Amino acid sequence: MRVLIDADRCQGHLRCMNLAPGVFDCDDLGYGVVALAGPVPAESEQLVRRCAANCPEHAITIR
Ligand code: F3S
Repeated sequence: MRVLIDADRCQGHLRCMNLAPGVFDCDDLGYGVVALAGPVPAESEQLVRRCAANCPEHAITIR
């Protein structure tokens, strides 16, 4: 699994970072970014799906 944040959609709600701080972080402007360089660890996949479902801007994509 890979996870992406669409920077055009993200409004900086940071639910992603609060739910999964090891997977998501925020940039200097307070917008969400993916903290992982590679695939999502198997043990975090369910949490990442929850983050995607809870992003109010539908900015998180899972592949
Ligand atoms: Fe952005 Fe959604 Fe996270 S708006 S900061 S991707 S919860």
